[in-house]
Amino acid sequence: MRHLLEVDDLTAEELLEILRRARDASPARMLDGKGMALVFDKPSARTRNSMEMAVVQLGGHPVYIQGAEVGIDVRESAADVARTLGSFHAMIGARVFAHAQVEALAAANAVPVVNMLSDAAHPLQALADVLTLQDEFGADLAGRSIAYVGDANNVTRSLALACGMLGVAVRIASPPGYRFGATDLDRLATAGVEVEVVDRPEEAVAGVDAVYTDVWTSMGQEAERETRLAAFEGFGVSEGLMAQAADGAVFLHCLPAHRGEEVSGAVADGPRSRIWPQAQNRMHAARGLLWWLMEVNR
Ligand code: CP
Ligand code: NVA
Repeated sequence: MRHLLEVDDLTAEELLEILRRARDASPARMLDGKGMALVFDKPSARTRNSMEMAVVQLGGHPVYIQGAEVGIDVRESAADVARTLGSFHAMIGARVFAHAQVEALAAANAVPVVNMLSDAAHPLQALADVLTLQDEFGADLAGRSIAYVGDANNVTRSLALACGMLGVAVRIASPPGYRFGATDLDRLATAGVEVEVVDRPEEAVAGVDAVYTDVWTSMGQEAERETRLAAFEGFGVSEGLMAQAADGAVFLHCLPAHRGEEVSGAVADGPRSRIWPQAQNRMHAARGLLWWLMEVNR
């Protein structure tokens, strides 16, 4: 059974097929009369709403479930949660802390499982990110470049995979202690993706087509906020930094944004920013993915 826990669960051709389907506003009603269980252990604005609407657009019925209600590995095992929800629903989406929990839900092979963000990965975001890059630069992204500035985190991992698999050169600038290590670089290499890890934001953004950042303190890391604010000083995306990217370079952010921290208000709300089309693309990308997943698992 096919699931989507991370972008490298897909081949580059499958990724492109999902993006093509994301652009189709008249999808097959693959979820007609069926449900999708959406379990959230963390808050969400974009993921919940884009997934609910994608399910509706495929003819289905989304059921939002607060994580504590099903209590993965608390009330019952992940496998039993998957079997239970799978007996009512055609698919399961889950937003969790430990990535092992989405792996365990998928391992039950009850129904296809979609990772709606774990501490390790955010593949739905990456699908929308490359869709947004295609909107800007055309369907063939080969030869383009993107700089990620900030915390090398779940969003970075999925973004680097999706971009790299489509031929986009990826440069990442993070402060010491917040960079990808050998495990991450090996996993990227296995997917055929080589990223350039650099020390300074200026090195990363020089001449690139897109600049991307995410929050410095992810969900679940709130106790580290003060330490992180100090560590990331100088890694905010400013107009000055954007000026060092290519002419016509765009700014992307998965959101929520903290203006004045990882990005200035002038950049987030300025002419190069594509954060709102990018947010809306979450729904189109989710619809393309769910359509494809239902079809390949038929
Ligand atoms: N980008 C993103 O996943 O947003 P939410 O946390 O609001 O779902
Ligand atoms: N890295 C962030 C992304 C939020 C969409 C987090 O995990 O909180």
